[in-house]
Amino acid sequence: MKADLSNKVALVTGAAKGIGFATAKLLADNGARVVIADVDAAGANAAASGLKGATALRMDVSSAPEVEAGVRQISAQLGRIDILVNNAGINTTSHRVTIDQFPIDEWDRIMAVDLRGVFLVSRAVSAVMIAQGGGRIVNIASVLGIVPARLQCAYTAAKAGVVNLTRTMAIELAPQGIAVNCVAPGSTLTEGTRNLFYGDKDAAMKEKAQRVLSHIPAGRPGQVEEVAQAVLFFAAPETGYTTGQILSVDGGWSAGGFLRDF
Ligand SMILES: NC(=O)c1ccc[n+]([C@@H]2O[C@H](COP(=O)([O-])OP(=O)(O)OC[C@H]3O[C@@H](n4cnc5c(N)ncnc54)[C@H](O)[C@@H]3O)[C@@H](O)[C@H]2O)c1
Repeated sequence: MKADLSNKVALVTGAAKGIGFATAKLLADNGARVVIADVDAAGANAAASGLKGATALRMDVSSAPEVEAGVRQISAQLGRIDILVNNAGINTTSHRVTIDQFPIDEWDRIMAVDLRGVFLVSRAVSAVMIAQGGGRIVNIASVLGIVPARLQCAYTAAKAGVVNLTRTMAIELAPQGIAVNCVAPGSTLTEGTRNLFYGDKDAAMKEKAQRVLSHIPAGRPGQVEEVAQAVLFFAAPETGYTTGQILSVDGGWSAGGFLRDF
């Protein structure tokens, strides 16, 4: 879809690569001045250098001082923040275990980025949006914030938190002209998911991909651009009356449950 985002400033967290970068690119292609915020400063610089009107910002979303300083810097340099996309997120890769064995520091690491990070950035940016009279916030959750999954308890809990935090933010901020919505991607093809299961390294990896795909009625992973289109919908000037909504972009995963015949 197309939207007129000229004169809009958009902050996208975790935008050095993956879904965040695709979203930043789509917002920039539709006229927004985009701030690519990422804990990976070199990655953010490289990403911003390829996009018209984009700037890079090193920001660890789990650090309150860094978030507050970053938001102050954007306000000083660009004057406003019209669109916030809370995209930065991490999951466990090395600790795929049940809750009784899940390391406490791994739980804390994931919660700090995936849930506290959304809170911290939204807290700082919503104050800017209230002062300027409105804005849009789009949180990136996951299909795993809607349906459960084994062996990643911190991620599923954090993403479920993002889903209901979205609704709470929506009802708190609607009177201030701020719409808050959520995009819940399903399994999406990125460098990370290619390394985990969508690559063609060996038979074990192919078998892992088949297990993931068995949850997906569409029979394929999503593309980052397909997730970005859902974010653009929520950021478009025409859709401001839509708030507190969760839009899954998951090939039917959350609609269908297990596909296995019985
Ligand atoms: N890829 C998928 O299959 C999938 C599925 C569902 C949901 N998601 C969600 O979509 C979002 C993006 O996922 P992705 O697959 O594109 O990830 P990715 O790993 O490709 O990119 C994540 C980016 O976030 C940055 N980041 C990590 N920690 C950060 C922090 N503390 N502060 C700022 N930036 C930080 C990384 O440096 C990286 O550039 C995440 O919230 C993820 O949970 C992804």
